Amino acid sequence: MATATTLQEKFLGQLPFLLFSEQKFVEEQTKLIAYISDPTLKAGMQKHLEETKKHVTNLEQVFFSMGKKPETKECPICMGLVKSTESGLKEMGTDALRDAHIGGEAALMEHYEIGAYRGLIAQAEALGLTEAVSLMKQNLQDEEKTAQQLESAAPMMLQKAAAM
Ligand SMILES: [Fe+2]
Ligand SMILES: [Fe+2]
Repeated sequence: MATATTLQEKFLGQLPFLLFSEQKFVEEQTKLIAYISDPTLKAGMQKHLEETKKHVTNLEQVFFSMGKKPETKECPICMGLVKSTESGLKEMGTDALRDAHIGGEAALMEHYEIGAYRGLIAQAEALGLTEAVSLMKQNLQDEEKTAQQLESAAPMMLQKAAAM
């Protein structure tokens, strides 16, 4: 990538990592749903999968709002999260442990997204990119809500796993 000399270039250099991640999470959540037994966790992930598809189009719109074409770059944080989710999945020998693992990894993904959006929103605010800010805030709200729901569902799922 070319050397960034302005905040706008820095912002545009980071955005492709998050678009990559949102696209990858659509793929990953689609795959994970098949492994979930707990109906609340399953319904929650199905709902967030639909939201994640909207996150992709919102982020594409951020590029368009700046007169740019959407671009992706492989995000090492996202790939690390996907790898740890999938390798753990193979190691879990019961439904309860698998659900606890998926719920925990899903919460990690949300927290990564929350951190990424907060950082990018702060930069877009500094740059006066009103449309980009409002689009990314919509995504951030979904991530925050999902993280909260995953965290409040965790104790009951973990109790199930602990009782075995
Ligand atoms: Fe997202
Ligand atoms: Fe998310």
